[in-house]
Amino acid sequence: MSPRVLLRPVTEQDLTEYFGRQLDSAAVARLRAGVSAPDGRIRTIVAAGQVVGYIAHFRRNGQPEVSYWIGEQSRGRGFATGALEQFLREIALRPLYARIAKSNVRSLRVAQRGGFTVIGEDRFTDARGQEVEEFILELGESRSG
Ligand SMILES: CC(C)(COP(=O)(O)OP(=O)(O)OC[C@H]1O[C@@H](n2cnc3c(N)ncnc32)[C@H](O)[C@@H]1OP(=O)(O)O)[C@@H](O)C(=O)NCCC(=O)NCCS
Repeated sequence: MSPRVLLRPVTEQDLTEYFGRQLDSAAVARLRAGVSAPDGRIRTIVAAGQVVGYIAHFRRNGQPEVSYWIGEQSRGRGFATGALEQFLREIALRPLYARIAKSNVRSLRVAQRGGFTVIGEDRFTDARGQEVEEFILELGESRSG
């Protein structure tokens, strides 16, 4: 069973302290923009009273996508799995999509444990100008449970 996690709104303190310490300034700026975006939702993930990461959904080309991040020191303890389970209970949007680099085996396993299945692939150029191959995953109506 996944560990118990709590999802709550992102506070200014999360942005300046927890995320500000661990993410680069561009990532924090994107988070900050997402917090006030009308068509997305970002939640801070809390486990045993400690902030451990965030989970979000936003629209890309009109399609709702989920994305998550766990701080380095908190990985491998089921927090992403637990947060995704909880998020999917709170968010009724289906179908819901995820785009995950093919090399990100952990994230793929987290998404597949959440019921997502691979429906396609794509590629994009990352911030360093390198081409990255990714899978497109979908959580459809029938799995929304
Ligand atoms: C990918 C990422 C989100 C995974 O987060 P995480 O919290 O480490 O993921 P989980 O702990 O839920 O799952 C990872 C492992 O922990 C294991 N695990 C799950 N529940 C567990 C539990 N209760 N106790 C111990 N381990 C557990 C899982 O089996 C899994 O191991 P496996 O993949 O070898 O099977 C995290 O590494 C990260 O933020 N990376 C950088 C950003 C990123 O890649 N985001 C995803 C983009 S979509």
